[in-house]
Amino acid sequence: MTDFIAGLPKCELHLHIEGTLEPELKFELAERNGIELPYASVEEIRAAYSFDDLPSFLKIYYEGMDVLRTEPDFYDLAMAYLRKAASQNVRYAEIFFDPQAHTSRGVPFDIVIRGLRRALIDAENRLGIKAQLIMCFLRDFQAEYAMATLLSSLPYREWIVGVGLDSDEKGNPPVKFKAVYERARQEGYLLTMHCDVDQENSTEHIRQAIEEIGVDRIDHGVNSLEDPALVEAIRARGLGLTVCPISNGYVTDSMKADAIRRMLDLGLRVTVNSDDPAYFAGYVQENLVALADALSLSREDLVQLERNAFEITWLPRHVKDAYLAELDAYAAR
Ligand code: ADE
Ligand code: ZN
Repeated sequence: MTDFIAGLPKCELHLHIEGTLEPELKFELAERNGIELPYASVEEIRAAYSFDDLPSFLKIYYEGMDVLRTEPDFYDLAMAYLRKAASQNVRYAEIFFDPQAHTSRGVPFDIVIRGLRRALIDAENRLGIKAQLIMCFLRDFQAEYAMATLLSSLPYREWIVGVGLDSDEKGNPPVKFKAVYERARQEGYLLTMHCDVDQENSTEHIRQAIEEIGVDRIDHGVNSLEDPALVEAIRARGLGLTVCPISNGYVTDSMKADAIRRMLDLGLRVTVNSDDPAYFAGYVQENLVALADALSLSREDLVQLERNAFEITWLPRHVKDAYLAELDAYAAR
C-alpha cells in the first residue's frame, strides 16, 4: 500500500509554509543571518518540539520562524518544501503563508511574498509541481491588523488565490473577521478558514464559517460530524474539508481516523494533508500511509481522497480535469 500511495498523483491543500521549516534549514538560515540559536544541534531542536495542544504548538512554531528574514530565506523555505512534495508525487499544492507572523517582527510583506512567488515559478518550471498561495490572517491579532494586511496584499492580488484564518482559535471566532472576509470576497479572493479540532465552541465556529462568512472551504472541520445540520450544510454546498491526521494526533487526543472514515462514508469532500510537516514529522505521503494503516483503507478509498482533493482545488475546471484524468489513469493501472 505504501508503494501504491507513493505512485498516486497527490494534492496538498492544507500546508503552512512556515510549518515546513526543518531544523537543518533553520540552522542554515540562522547562520546566514547571524542569529544565535539556543540549540547546539538539529537533534536538540527536534527534542524541544514538545506540544500537546494548539497553543503549545503555536508557541514553538512562531519562535522557529524568527530565522526567516530576507527574500532568499523565503525562497529557500518554499523551494525546499516544493522539492520534498514533488519527490512524493504531489502534483499540485495550495500553500498557506502567515504574513503577519513576519510583518509583526519587522519583515516587510513584499519580501515574504516575492520570495515565495519566485520559488513557485521555479518549482513549476524545474520540477513540474504547480502551486498557488493562500494568505492567512492570524486570528489572535485584531481584525484591524487583518484588514491592513488584506490591503497591503492588493498590489500582489494576482499572486494570491484566496485567504485563510489560522493561529489560536480560543476566543477568536470567525465572525470577528466578518468585515475582512467581505472585503476579501469583493477583491476576488476565495475564502477558507481554520475550524481547528476539538476547540471551545467548535461547532458554533463551523456554523459561523459556513453561514455568516460563506467560506468556500473549511480547514479541519472534523467537529462538524457532531451536528447533522452542519453535515447537511457542508454536503449541500459541496464544501471541501482539509483534514490533517498526523497533526491531529499531536494537538488533540488522536488522528481522528474514525471521523475521516465517517466523512468518506457520508460522501463529504474530505482530503488528507500535512499541516506543519516539519513539526509533526509527516508530509502528505506519511499522512496517507498512517491513515491507510489506521483504517485499512482500500485503493479505492485512497483514490477517492485524492479525487476529492483535486475536485476542491481552486483551479480552473480544465486544469482540475487534467489532474483528475492523471489520477484515473493511475487508478485504472
Ligand atoms: N498555524 C499553523 N498551523 C496551524 C494549525 N494547525 N492551526 C492553527 N493555526 C496554525
Ligand atoms: Zn493548519
